Amino acid sequence: MLRVIGNSSAESIRRVSRLSNGAPVLIKGDVRDTAILDQVFDDNAIDAVIHLAGVKAVGESVKNPQKYYDINVSGSVCLFGAMQRHGVSNVVFSSSATVYGVPETSPLTEEMPTKPHNPYGQTKLMVEHILRDMTAANLGWRALLLRYFNPVGAHSSGEIGEDPHGIPDNLFPFIGMVATKRKPLLDVFGADYNTPDGTCIRDYIHVVDLARGHVKALDYLLSDRATDNSAKIVNLGTDQGSSVFQVIKAWEAACGFEIPFQVTNRRAGDVPAYYADSRRAKALLGWQAEHDLAQMCVDHWRWQTKNPDGYGK
Ligand code: UFG
Repeated sequence: MLRVIGNSSAESIRRVSRLSNGAPVLIKGDVRDTAILDQVFDDNAIDAVIHLAGVKAVGESVKNPQKYYDINVSGSVCLFGAMQRHGVSNVVFSSSATVYGVPETSPLTEEMPTKPHNPYGQTKLMVEHILRDMTAANLGWRALLLRYFNPVGAHSSGEIGEDPHGIPDNLFPFIGMVATKRKPLLDVFGADYNTPDGTCIRDYIHVVDLARGHVKALDYLLSDRATDNSAKIVNLGTDQGSSVFQVIKAWEAACGFEIPFQVTNRRAGDVPAYYADSRRAKALLGWQAEHDLAQMCVDHWRWQTKNPDGYGK
């Protein structure tokens, strides 16, 4: 039996049950554990899989690449093998805009070159390739490869949101810690980039829009619009870039007080600016982002204030 190393909390599933019509079934296991996977497919009538199981810390992937190839790539191979054995051939895969590497221009369309510059990004691209090869092999597979930009925010109820272990690497959860006084100030990693205010620009997308993108993806895969041999790549972003300073301002508007920060050195590996072109998501899936940066901050702040200790692990 493999060790389960997930970051998630069973409490989040209990809260999803309260917010939704039906309680999700939780089976705890490791995506590399083929015995558990076979059991899940044996015990349930499954039409499609949304594959989100993976590790995603860029810095950690540089220090411990083997962990990333093992969980993200081997884990995906185990999952696809179990699907194949049980005749399940529809999959939505959680990929990332990180596969574009250091893009020269934005907005980014799905045709633009992929050249990930860290092991995490490599693993996402490798799984994309596996799915493209599997669909091309004419085995009846259909896949949607969703390239997420920067997911942030929380459910508007304030009941479910991001609860990272330890010190968060990412901007929104770090600002959340500063806003709740668990950190004295935010380090802004560089204000000397070639951008309008000198700070890096990203395409932040509300997690609820991201979740809706998955529902649309499933609808598409299970409809007659999808054909065999297709592995469609789809960007999920807002097509709007926001700088770190703009994010700080939006947070201040959401929480009603100043977020203390200091400008420090650039963070190694940061890309100056990128944002999505999501026209394909609209054309293929009928999806587009509905929440703006202000709403992302309001919802993240509500989650943070209602749950200062996250899920209370
Ligand atoms: N930043 C700060 N201070 C912080 C944290 C971040 O200034 O304390 C800045 C970063 O330098 C960057 C921006 O805020 O300019 C966004 O940084 P994040 O760490 O929040 O997000 P990244 O764009 O670096 O990466 C995220 C995910 C990746 C994913 C990528 C997809 O962490 O896993 O988006 O585009 F691949």
